[in-house]
Amino acid sequence: MNGNSSSLEQPKLNLAAELILLLLNEESGYFYQVPGWSLSCALTGAALAELSLQHRVDTDIDLLYLLNSDATGEPILDSILEKIANEKTPRSTAYWIEHLSIHSETIIDSTLERLVQLKVLTHHHGDFWTLAPNSQYTNNIKRRIGKCIFANEIPEPEDAIIVSLCEACNVFRLMYDLDEQSQARIESICKIELIGRSIALAVKQNITSPLLRRSRLTKKIPSVALHKLPFNRNLRIGYIPALFGDLAQEYGPVFQIRLPFREPLYFLAGPESNRWAHRNGRIYLRSRDYFVEFEKVYGAAGLFPSLDGADHFQLRKSLHSAYSKNRFRATMGVILSEIRSFMADWKVGSTLQATTVCRSLLNAQIAPTLIGINSQDISAQLIKYKERALMTHVVNVLPKFMLNTPRMKRAAKAVNLALERVQSSHTPAQRSACPRNLADDLLNLHANNPQFLPESNLGFYFSAPMLASVYVGDALGFALYAMVSQPDMYNQISREADALFVNGDPDVEQFSSSLFDVTKRFVMECLRLYPIIPMSIRNVMNSCTVEGFELPIGTRIHIAQTASHYIDSVFPDPYKFDIDRYLPDREEHRSPGYAPYGLGTHRCLGANFVEDQLAINLMMIAHYFTLELTPANYKLGFDPLPSMSPNRKLKFRITEQRRELPV
Ligand code: HEM
Repeated sequence: MNGNSSSLEQPKLNLAAELILLLLNEESGYFYQVPGWSLSCALTGAALAELSLQHRVDTDIDLLYLLNSDATGEPILDSILEKIANEKTPRSTAYWIEHLSIHSETIIDSTLERLVQLKVLTHHHGDFWTLAPNSQYTNNIKRRIGKCIFANEIPEPEDAIIVSLCEACNVFRLMYDLDEQSQARIESICKIELIGRSIALAVKQNITSPLLRRSRLTKKIPSVALHKLPFNRNLRIGYIPALFGDLAQEYGPVFQIRLPFREPLYFLAGPESNRWAHRNGRIYLRSRDYFVEFEKVYGAAGLFPSLDGADHFQLRKSLHSAYSKNRFRATMGVILSEIRSFMADWKVGSTLQATTVCRSLLNAQIAPTLIGINSQDISAQLIKYKERALMTHVVNVLPKFMLNTPRMKRAAKAVNLALERVQSSHTPAQRSACPRNLADDLLNLHANNPQFLPESNLGFYFSAPMLASVYVGDALGFALYAMVSQPDMYNQISREADALFVNGDPDVEQFSSSLFDVTKRFVMECLRLYPIIPMSIRNVMNSCTVEGFELPIGTRIHIAQTASHYIDSVFPDPYKFDIDRYLPDREEHRSPGYAPYGLGTHRCLGANFVEDQLAINLMMIAHYFTLELTPANYKLGFDPLPSMSPNRKLKFRITEQRRELPV
């Protein structure tokens, strides 16, 4: 018995209404995530099948025929019938699906409206629908379809049609846990009904080769209320990733910010969006578009961030070992000695300005180990030029000509200087006895495949490690702040450092992060609370639906991947500094919700060693010196652009030298 007749007081629902009810996801108050075009085709199919059940049309594998043009009394069905009656030549079912699906918005809207009128569904602000209290309809349809699939009940014709339509848009896997047997049962149900079969086939054809895609049943992307933003404390202090945590909690996983006289800015934020971007980014999103103007500034094309697909994979594979943990560990001796010689100038009573000192300290290690040069004299120029290029060509908050000022032209020369230094120090004879570094790998790749890695890209690639020292340096600035402002943490890190260096420098062979477990977890917590790159930019290359919101092709989206760092469901008590989150019994970082290095295919390659490097720097500082904040009542402030750094006011005073630095 079919559900339409199971209860006398319930009016009969048509196939489109039944399909919509089946697709309602009661947990989310919305619909199973069926891509817009597939859903349009399926609902149009349901309307045509309903006309067939009411003996107005008939279909075979080739064509759809008009049997009777008498009105059905349902306005939507009648307008479809009229269109079919007015067509001079008989057309295929696929033609009608494609032709009518463009207008399927009306089918969806009027069906939803009717369901609300019938008190089957309740409509809420923000375009959510939930099942009205006491309504039996959804349970009915779900139970009936479930019985057909799992209890081998023979389906009524309507139910067989619905099964065929759902299968055509591949939605059952979202609703049920299907095993081979139930999958086989679905396939056999799809063959039962001729109308269902031919319509589902036409729907499938349209889904696999869509000529037009339009959004249906997708939610309207909410706009952030601009008038409320100035009251947000995180915005006022420039704590942008935390602001996005707030916005994700208030507006959901997809929202837009509409600034006056500018195109709307679209954002994905929160754990669901992260999961989506992490898994599906490669299919739907492209990073090339936002980066292309920036790389032109360096005369380059096809750099890491602007590659996608197979080329991107090949580049990552080719350079994987250059960024590996093993390569980093092999350079440990150089790193420790660079840190010591850098600190040799530190005097008790002197003041260290956090960002300048930390960036320079990191550059002193990264440039020699990755590209075999000393670049302390040019790194400030390189950084200035890159930050200006980001502001003019990526963040777009400065006009383009600001990159051509005399100061910037002077800064640009540092790119060529870095290139010359690397090239002149990486001749085969000079490198024969040296351990391999990133520059060797890049030059080798260029020599073997100059089309894939052209010379024009080398200038940027050889500056990139110096630019990355900004990120690691700023991360160290935040970590020093967190250490110095929390005496208990400071003690634990000092103790761990003293134990690590008690017999001199640790042996490279034995070097492992278990030797500095507390410091490592401390660093992870710093990267959570103070993410340096809180957001990634992408363009939509295939239209897609994220948590029920359709993102049309070409939309530029900002993935605020670190917003989830401040969301209680991912990190309980998110503003609490708690290094135990990463212990084996909690492991709160083991989901795409922890994303200091980005998500998906472009995840940071430096992530293999950055935490070890930060830990070693912190421990060396704690082993040799005692620092305090100056002024003592300093409150952490942020510079949010172009990446997040502590503000210039963050300073440390050296109060004690705990032991002599070896010469
Ligand atoms: C704390 C320091 C660092 C942070 C927070 C960080 C963060 C990130 C993030 C978020 C991305 C992804 C950007 C996107 O999706 O658009 C990224 C990419 C990348 N990072 Fe890092 N990074 C750091 C240090 C480094 C270092 C030291 C290196 C190497 C010297 C490095 C090399 C790279 C590379 C090569 C990519 C591009 C990967 C690709 O496009 O496939 N990073 N980084």
